[in-house]
Amino acid sequence: MRKNTIDLQEKLQELLLAQRDNFLQGKVADYIPALASVKPDLMGISVATIDGQVFGAGDYQHPFSIQSISKVFGLVMAMNRIGDSIWQRVRMEPSGQPFNSIIQLEWEKGIPRNPVINAGAILVSDILTSHFSASKLAFLSFVRKLAENDNIYVDNQVYLSELKHGNLNAALAYLMKSFGNIEAEIPDVLSHYFTQCSISMSCEQLAKSLLFLANKGIDPRTKETICTARNAHKVNAILSTSGMYDQSGEFAFSVGLPAKSGVGGGVIAIVPGYGVICTWSPPLNNYGNSVVGMNLMADITEELGLSIY
Ligand code: DON
Repeated sequence: MRKNTIDLQEKLQELLLAQRDNFLQGKVADYIPALASVKPDLMGISVATIDGQVFGAGDYQHPFSIQSISKVFGLVMAMNRIGDSIWQRVRMEPSGQPFNSIIQLEWEKGIPRNPVINAGAILVSDILTSHFSASKLAFLSFVRKLAENDNIYVDNQVYLSELKHGNLNAALAYLMKSFGNIEAEIPDVLSHYFTQCSISMSCEQLAKSLLFLANKGIDPRTKETICTARNAHKVNAILSTSGMYDQSGEFAFSVGLPAKSGVGGGVIAIVPGYGVICTWSPPLNNYGNSVVGMNLMADITEELGLSIY
């Protein structure tokens, strides 16, 4: 049974407080210096509901690097642009491998397992690069519109760091190109991918910007159709099976919502018909998911009875 929203603000504070020291169990992403320098004890949570309410606790208005959460926006844009033909170039199956694994990609002839592992998101970046004259700008405009905030920015320091340390992503891209599954020039595709990963947003902005996925593709604030109900269903299905990488099964057990994590420490979860939850705490577990984010998502879902299963 969902709790009355009047209690929710207080409940978020309480759940966050209970996690106060748990960030110590994780490790901040250090594969690029720009992420390694983030303060590990920052943490926030926000809930946006489709009836227009927004709740938040802790550092919920502090911008952080959205990283792989950007894969959700990219997928929606690519599906809107090329329709179901996307599924001839990327599949919709869980990978059971780390998010940046290259092994499976050779076995499976350059067709990524799903659009939210790195190979799949690079493929989606290729679609955007090839179908938009200025894909990076189009991406940023899309996110700004959804978040109703024109100040959302790309963190150039993170972008340059990604570019400098992006050899594995480049290898994934070249491997796919060798199988004929990448159309644009690799440097352009990678530049798009790293740009979208380097966008900074807060929990509140992320929760608000993804409300359409909880509302059959329609932005509940403006009534604008952001994607078809069918595509919202497909995105949520992919997030349910693959959004938390090879911890997606455990996440389904303990939380039971379509979700996506990023190595910046953010996690978003879609609650169909209700709203969006976003948590942020930078230290990660071995799967690349935020330790506190995993705990908070489990606690709030249990507290509010939000699991879809
Ligand atoms: O591709 C990368 O390495 C990063 N820019 C994004 C990785 C990411 O967030 C993976 N998710 N947990």
